[in-house]
Amino acid sequence: MSANKEAWGSRVGLILAMAGNAVGLGNFLRFPVQAVQNGGGAFIIPYLVCFLLMGIPLLWIEWTMGRFGGKQGNHSTPFILDSMGKLRFWKYFGVFGIFTNVAVAAYYCYIESWTLSYVFHSVFDTFSGMNQGQVADFFNNYLKIGKSTTGIPYEAAVFYILCLLLNTYILSRGLKGVEKAAKIGVPLLLIFGAFLAFRGLTLGTSGASAANPDASAWDGLNFLWTPQFDSLSNPTVWLAAAGQMFFTLSVGMGTIHCYASYLKSKDDIALNAVSAGFMNEFVEVVLGSLIVVPIAAGYLGIDWVKENAGFGMAFQTMPYLFDQWGAYISNIAGVFWFGLLFFAGITSSLAMGTPWMGFMQDEYNFNRKKAAWTFGAVIAFFGLPTVLVYQVMENGVVDQVLFNEYDYWAGTMSLVVFALAEAVLFAWIFGIKRGWHELLSGADIKVPSFFKGIMLTITPLLLIIVFLGSLFLPEGGDWAVAISGLFDGQGWTLDNGSIIQMLQNSGIKAQIAAATDANVIARLERKIVLVNIARLLLSTLFVGLSALVYIAYKKRRRNALQTASV
Ligand code: TRP
Ligand code: TRP
Repeated sequence: MSANKEAWGSRVGLILAMAGNAVGLGNFLRFPVQAVQNGGGAFIIPYLVCFLLMGIPLLWIEWTMGRFGGKQGNHSTPFILDSMGKLRFWKYFGVFGIFTNVAVAAYYCYIESWTLSYVFHSVFDTFSGMNQGQVADFFNNYLKIGKSTTGIPYEAAVFYILCLLLNTYILSRGLKGVEKAAKIGVPLLLIFGAFLAFRGLTLGTSGASAANPDASAWDGLNFLWTPQFDSLSNPTVWLAAAGQMFFTLSVGMGTIHCYASYLKSKDDIALNAVSAGFMNEFVEVVLGSLIVVPIAAGYLGIDWVKENAGFGMAFQTMPYLFDQWGAYISNIAGVFWFGLLFFAGITSSLAMGTPWMGFMQDEYNFNRKKAAWTFGAVIAFFGLPTVLVYQVMENGVVDQVLFNEYDYWAGTMSLVVFALAEAVLFAWIFGIKRGWHELLSGADIKVPSFFKGIMLTITPLLLIIVFLGSLFLPEGGDWAVAISGLFDGQGWTLDNGSIIQMLQNSGIKAQIAAATDANVIARLERKIVLVNIARLLLSTLFVGLSALVYIAYKKRRRNALQTASV
């Protein structure tokens, strides 16, 4: 094991770093999109229930596992899991805790690099005077490598590399660097967010356009926050809510374990975990819902928002809307908005670097610098294909095939698999009694003991439901129809979005079958090839990391035998 003696500088630093890890692009880009697509107020109740019954228990489980692992000199999940269960395969489940981080960082840094570039364009007034269509085209062209309209050749790739270099440099400064970035980034993003939220709320109907004279920023908020109880019986909404909860809290990823492994053994985890978790929820449900949706609803109407929910809102629409606010203030708003996204993003992508670093330092005696630069290189290798390879669809819009594939497998599915494994390991194998004792040691609060029961039953059960639900998602997400069909002997028709159908590319094949234009068919056939390349890359990464774990395990055994025989 290693001489890795790094530790957090202060409690404030730790909380800000953990909050910075959780607060990310997911809070500002993914949450509003998920909420809008799943019916606004219909999304909120499942979302909050998932926070209480899955989010909080998993936070405690991961902080506990992390601190426990750190005491034994383990800073990444393969050997943390290994030390908690007897069976050998646990360490390969632990591979997920590095894999997810590397694979997500690969495309996440790409989004992060857009925000960096858009800060730059906001300062230099690129968007001023453009109409809505021109701002939207700008983003589309930006994604088409080599075609950007700004005069910087290969702009998207250049900013991507810049962003990677910045991340790698900060990581090479170790935990101190991460802590410092969080101490600067998190407060700034809160200030920027508060400014934009205030501006959005006080917009009233003054932003309404001729086409939507009565549109108001409040329409957006009403849509998001009027609870609709009938959604409670819709499993598709639950799946989306659970998925968002994982992504935003950074649970099921291995990052929290890594951060927590640098705690001291008497440090509190019970209170720190909920503090960081609540901070993330505040930023998500308050700031995350007060900016894009209300402002866009004010100018363009809530129906427009419902139809156009996606990355587009943040990058294709906001710069245009800010431009309506007049000179200077539009530059400031642009810098604040994209600056906020950038700080949210970088404090998360730094977190994604730490499990790899912890692992290579522990098992292969890498020093900090070497661990950071190898991370940068691995990210560039797996990330550049998501930047450089895409398809332009018939309507001119860019389809980021590899990017989306990474997001689905690494950014969505693998979180559920890993969370399920660790929840079972913690409560059932390691044992809830021991686990609970670990959690409470050094705790500054009393944890209500009914959470013991929740961790033992409800949390794993919900995770199983989420997993099976995604595996067997029925056609159209219509569970009632599917279940009654099953009893009528009609069998179960899987949706093309179910894991099983995704694996067979059924969705794309159906599009091919429906297409008549030879060019469209040819493009879709190429798309299948690209999807398979993305999966090959992801599998290579997983197998490669497993091999590193296997070699490390052999090394450990050899060392243990040697020490024993001396
Ligand atoms: N929680 C972050 C967000 O909301 C994303 C994130 C942080 C993440 N750490 C991660 C994703 C590790 C995958 C792996 O944007
Ligand atoms: N791709 C989704 C959209 O169109 C949003 C999204 C998915 C996302 N994964 C993400 C946003 C990761 C931020 C980070 O809009």
